[in-house]
Amino acid sequence: MRRAVCPGSFDPVTNGHVDVITRAAALYDELVVAVLVNPGKAGLFDVEERMELLRAAVADLPNVVVDSFSGLLVNWCREHDVPVVVKGLRAVGDFEYELQMAQMNRELAGVETLFVPTAPQVGHLSSSLVKQIAAFGGDVSHLVPAEVNTRLVARREREGEA
Ligand code: PNS
Repeated sequence: MRRAVCPGSFDPVTNGHVDVITRAAALYDELVVAVLVNPGKAGLFDVEERMELLRAAVADLPNVVVDSFSGLLVNWCREHDVPVVVKGLRAVGDFEYELQMAQMNRELAGVETLFVPTAPQVGHLSSSLVKQIAAFGGDVSHLVPAEVNTRLVARREREGEA
């Protein structure tokens, strides 16, 4: 069985992530989407909510499972016997840091990295921009899965009332 992991913060999942996950899922028997638990960075959604939103976003992809991890990604890969990391590349700017991490992960544990160039329609997308636009009342419904949009709108309304 060929397995790979698609790691990230996913705070929250965007249509860009879904594009990469969908295309990677077509290449492997099982794709694990793994959310980083980062105690030093709270984020907008907690890890459980990010996982819930991811599960809703990939509900139509039967070979995708959602998990979380903390610490080194390569340790998670070793423990779960997953030899490949999948990363989306939006632009040349992403490549420099991603290349460093890919080389380091291979050096640390022999874990390979597969880069998937994102579809041009979602190349400008990031979770941070989505959060910023949503916080100021902008419409992000075309940039994120439906449930993510619902939660972002609900949050803004709650914060507006407070
Ligand atoms: O969505 P992000 O924030 O760009 O994802 C980055 C992530 C989580 C994939 C990366 O920071 C990571 O792998 N963190 C785990 C810690 C680790 O393994 N660091 C060493 C990398 S060489």
